Amino acid sequence: MSLLTELHAEIERCKNCELARHRTRVVPGEGPENAKLLFIGEAPGHHEDQTGRPFVGQAGQYLDQLIGMIGYKRSQVFIANVIKCRPPDNRDPMPGEIMACGKWLERQLDLIKPRVIVTLGAFAARTLLGSKAPISALRGRFHEYRGTRLMPTFHPAYV
Ligand code: URA
Repeated sequence: MSLLTELHAEIERCKNCELARHRTRVVPGEGPENAKLLFIGEAPGHHEDQTGRPFVGQAGQYLDQLIGMIGYKRSQVFIANVIKCRPPDNRDPMPGEIMACGKWLERQLDLIKPRVIVTLGAFAARTLLGSKAPISALRGRFHEYRGTRLMPTFHPAYV
């Protein structure tokens, strides 16, 4: 079993916050362990919660188009979310939930070591950059997250 598969098995058992009581499936993320490009969204929605896979609903179709436009296939990139379980009624994740879930994404990034992180939407960009700035001010230029280049862009569901 690869280290990433082991980590995902650990994430699937997580009960570190309230969201564990509401979820159907945990959505750790998916993609190759050696992916150069890593996309990060906010949190699973209904379809993701049902399937255990990130970005499979309508936002996922837009994300697939975005990935295609920059010359990649979905199978070549890693796709994850800041929060691994669906918040009830798709409400915004709470600070305690963000804190409890943050270590999973950090451990994924430590294993995958992507060349570039692309955050999708305001929530992921602000959480990772520790910024309150609007996404319109953050997007379109490189920032840095724990030594890796990070490009914020709009959320595919918004576009
Ligand atoms: N929106 C997200 O931010 N993540 C998903 O996985 C699906 C929709």
